[in-house]
Amino acid sequence: MDPTLLAVLGVCVRWIHIASVTALIGGFIYARFVLAPALVSLPNTERELAGSNAVRSFRPLLIAALILALGSGMYNYASKASYPPTYHMWMGIKLLLVLHIAASAIIYSVRQSSQAKRNRTELSIVISGLVVIAIATYLRYLSLK
Ligand code: HEM
Repeated sequence: MDPTLLAVLGVCVRWIHIASVTALIGGFIYARFVLAPALVSLPNTERELAGSNAVRSFRPLLIAALILALGSGMYNYASKASYPPTYHMWMGIKLLLVLHIAASAIIYSVRQSSQAKRNRTELSIVISGLVVIAIATYLRYLSLK
């Protein structure tokens, strides 16, 4: 493929990857640390209803972000020119955490549960997401070293 085209594709896919994971993890940070505290002031039935309505609104974005993150991530991984020592090990750890994020996010978006349960799931996804971003940044450092 033409090197310029390959470079443009690489930049575009990297943008898709970073934008999709920003929407995904950012969405859960908002749900847990902005929406959840705001819902506390509501009476119980209204809180549960507002919480499940928010999940229903988040679902299309959540699924789209997951699919784009996975697709662009696989392209990023497969199209790398070289893999520095320990890269595959750290990517393996990253992908295990991504599996937790993806499984929890999909169950969160389809299963009816209480607001308290949603808050716990949101927090666990935020923690895994921030650890994954830290590993991704380290992978970038390893690649540029
Ligand atoms: C929730 C899921 C994910 C999050 C939060 C995430 C986060 C990130 C971030 C923030 C970067 C940019 C790091 C930088 O440039 O400093 C990145 C890069 C990358 N991601 Fe992901 N990612 C996710 C899923 C995936 C998946 C599923 C794969 C592979 C199948 C993947 C493979 C990669 C690769 C290969 C890079 C480039 C790292 C390098 O420069 O060598 N990511 N990821």
